[in-house]
Amino acid sequence: ENTTKMQIAIDGPASAGKSTVAKLVAKEMNYIYCDTGAMYRVATWYALKNNVALDDNQALEEMLKDVQLEFVPAEPVQKVFVNGEEVTDAIRMPDVTNNVSLVAAQPSVRKAMTQRQREIADAGGIVMDGRDIGSVVLPNAQVKVFMEATVHERALRRYRENQAKGIETPLAVLEEEIAARDYKDSTRKEAPLICAEDAIKLDTTSLNIEQVVAEIKKIIKKNAK
Ligand code: DC
Repeated sequence: ENTTKMQIAIDGPASAGKSTVAKLVAKEMNYIYCDTGAMYRVATWYALKNNVALDDNQALEEMLKDVQLEFVPAEPVQKVFVNGEEVTDAIRMPDVTNNVSLVAAQPSVRKAMTQRQREIADAGGIVMDGRDIGSVVLPNAQVKVFMEATVHERALRRYRENQAKGIETPLAVLEEEIAARDYKDSTRKEAPLICAEDAIKLDTTSLNIEQVVAEIKKIIKKNAK
């Protein structure tokens, strides 16, 4: 095989559809897919379970030494295991979602996760989605995409996802939660959510999944050397 294995960074705010399209792109290219949000969710889930204060930088650092994380590719979503226990659904529950920004703002957590993410990326062709992939984790990525959509559109997407899972949260509440998470993720000191200077902005408000994937493939084609 003589194709160059690229690093593809996909960043953007909550519920912009990053993981869905990143996974599809990875599949088509036969690349590894890495959902970095899931890693921060795992840290949050584990801290909640073990009563570790969510803003205790030092305690979280100690805690993470005991966290063995494993991703197993599966449909429709990859499975996530912590120390052998499956947490795929648990890390998507509202208690984790509404507390993850606090944990993700702790420097020790970011350091540990960034290190693990770079190790995963070292294995070869990778599509990685998150908030700081193009800006901090993989600054030399050949392809950087920053996906955006209005708060209303993202809340609608989350609303439909929730309905499929039997979770009943009013749309207005989801809009508030998403706006709050955007604010916390964008204004934190460490590796905030920003569009890297060399990233290509992609507004997905009026695009469906297939259209977003097509756009990203165009960007990849342009950047592939
Ligand atoms: O993409 P997501 O909603 O699963 O991400 C969960 C949280 O993790 C998000 O609110 C911010 C944080 N996060 C981060 O700080 N850096 C990343 N690279 C990915 C996620």
